[in-house]
Amino acid sequence: MSNAHERVEKNVGLMIVLVLIVISFAGLAQIVPLFWQKSTTEPLQTLRPYTALEMEGRDIYIREGCHVCHTQMVRPLRAETERYGPYSVAGEDVWEHPFLWGSKRTGPDLARVGGRYSDDWQRVHLRNPRDVVPESNMPGYPWLERTPVNWRHTERKLRTFMNVLKVPYSEEMIAEQMGKVAGEWSEATEEDALVAYLQQLGHAMTGR
Ligand code: HEC
Repeated sequence: MSNAHERVEKNVGLMIVLVLIVISFAGLAQIVPLFWQKSTTEPLQTLRPYTALEMEGRDIYIREGCHVCHTQMVRPLRAETERYGPYSVAGEDVWEHPFLWGSKRTGPDLARVGGRYSDDWQRVHLRNPRDVVPESNMPGYPWLERTPVNWRHTERKLRTFMNVLKVPYSEEMIAEQMGKVAGEWSEATEEDALVAYLQQLGHAMTGR
């Protein structure tokens, strides 16, 4: 008996096409509503954009591959919220470009680490983690302390975030940030920038 179903089963090419259509429909049905769901597109009231120093620190975090060993995503599970703090919500990440959620935890999650330790602890830990956590297998990053921040692209980064990525910076804010770059941050090291970035992680949820 020859029917439509048999034709599909005997024709691998046709089968592949139909499978793709079914799967993409199922995928779209899950993904598309998220584009319009308010809770996934609205920033938290408490969220603030990065300062110039934090933005450079974030780029150092990416360059050094910190996200390979650390996630920034507290899952809504009791074991996680007891250990790290409030679970992650979409509204704290709407200005993240790119996301640094990560996928592997060799070290602990860092989404709530801002304000948990002093700046001094973070510096000692970055230079040689074993000075504060003897059993740590995290590598040290001693050169950050000796390397001045390269501010060459900072203004362009801020402008890209404002104009292309629609993060609500204003001309006044950018002027203020670049004033600090020329002033109090002109001698800042990469370690200063990375610590500033780490210390604001989770600020919108923890208030720290
Ligand atoms: C090879 C994996 C690895 C890499 C790469 C790595 N870490 Fe870690 N990190 C760890 C481990 C393991 C711990 C837990 C032990 C400790 O505190 O040192 C840790 C702990 C930490 C902590 C303390 C977290 C807490 O809640 O106590 C911070 C902050 C941190 N890392 C920041 C960074 C930064 C910033 C970078 C990139 C410059 C980085 N780590 C790169 C493995 C890594």
